[in-house]
Amino acid sequence: MLLVLQLWVTAFSIQLINQQSSVSASSLQEAEDGAVPFHDTFSVIWGDVLFDQHDDVVQLKLDQQSGSGFVSLENYMYAYFSASIKLPHDYTAGIVLAFYTSNSDDFSKNHDELDFEFLGNVKGKPWRLQTNIYGNGSVSRGREERFNFWFDPTTDFHNYSILWNHKHVVFFVDEIPIRELKQSEELGGDYPSKPMALYATMWDGSGWATNGGKYPVNYKYAPFKTSFKNFKINGCATNPIVEDQIEIPSYQTRSRMTHCINNPTETLQLWDLTSIEKQSLQWVRTHYLYYTYCQDTNRHYSTSLPECAAQDTIKLAKPGGYRSHRPKQRLGKPNS
Ligand SMILES: *[C@@H]1O[C@H](CO)[C@@H](O)[C@H](O)[C@H]1NC(C)=O
Ligand SMILES: *[C@@H]1O[C@H](CO)[C@@H](O)[C@H](O)[C@H]1NC(C)=O
Repeated sequence: MLLVLQLWVTAFSIQLINQQSSVSASSLQEAEDGAVPFHDTFSVIWGDVLFDQHDDVVQLKLDQQSGSGFVSLENYMYAYFSASIKLPHDYTAGIVLAFYTSNSDDFSKNHDELDFEFLGNVKGKPWRLQTNIYGNGSVSRGREERFNFWFDPTTDFHNYSILWNHKHVVFFVDEIPIRELKQSEELGGDYPSKPMALYATMWDGSGWATNGGKYPVNYKYAPFKTSFKNFKINGCATNPIVEDQIEIPSYQTRSRMTHCINNPTETLQLWDLTSIEKQSLQWVRTHYLYYTYCQDTNRHYSTSLPECAAQDTIKLAKPGGYRSHRPKQRLGKPNS
């Protein structure tokens, strides 16, 4: 036991030295790695998943018969998940495309979840982006945030990424952080802390997705197809989920050590956003955030959640178009 501990301490110190000597402009570069092949990484859950070997594109299909979805073969305890996604265009009202991590198959009563949800729209109106976070079954405390896009997500591939380690959860769009939730003692079990798998699903959300259900899916425009490529999962696979991993570590004992040494998401650079990333986050939230649970006074629990107390009130945008508020070059994209 002592030897193991000693080895680990040594490994940790070496890593610390390495990290301090390599000054990286972008924290994300640490987590970025080669793309993983679809067939080695995922399995189809249901419906039609179409493959185009030629350009490595995978498509989810929704038609009158069925939606579709796939899931990663492994569960991960802290990871960086990413994919390039191109959404269907034209009439897409009622459609939900979800790109998310979850462990609801293993923990039906106290699951964790991190969501990108893309909500379709009527012809000529833009898609909207929703994110959500659940920890240890906190389904009675939704933490939704909704954003307008600053580009048309149907004309090209864009990168959607989730970074999850013991310090924070960060949602990125094209390497620009749009949302961050920091781990804290007050959050307790609401911070996702059990292994999760990565999912992508497309389904009929007629009842709520567009204007509260006013515009259902119109199958006259089917089949609807969403394209994916460039999958990245860089983390610590923990299959099978065994008893000692189910135990949620207390806040004090949660650490980079959890479940695997050298988890690529547990490096100093990935424990905090760079100053450029913080500015980008601010830019997105100032111009594109149009709903946040922290400012939803209709939900009486929301404003009293621990992470909300520390946040300044933001002047929210209106749900709307793809207008770019500033030339993108001036954003200081973290990866360039
Ligand atoms: C998405 O990421 C890839 C690298 O994985 C990069 O080549 C591409 O430019 C990115 N796309 C956008 C729109 O940022
Ligand atoms: C997680 O949920 C379980 C079951 O509801 C509960 O017993 C446990 O105390 C929770 N853990 C934390 C850290 O909140």
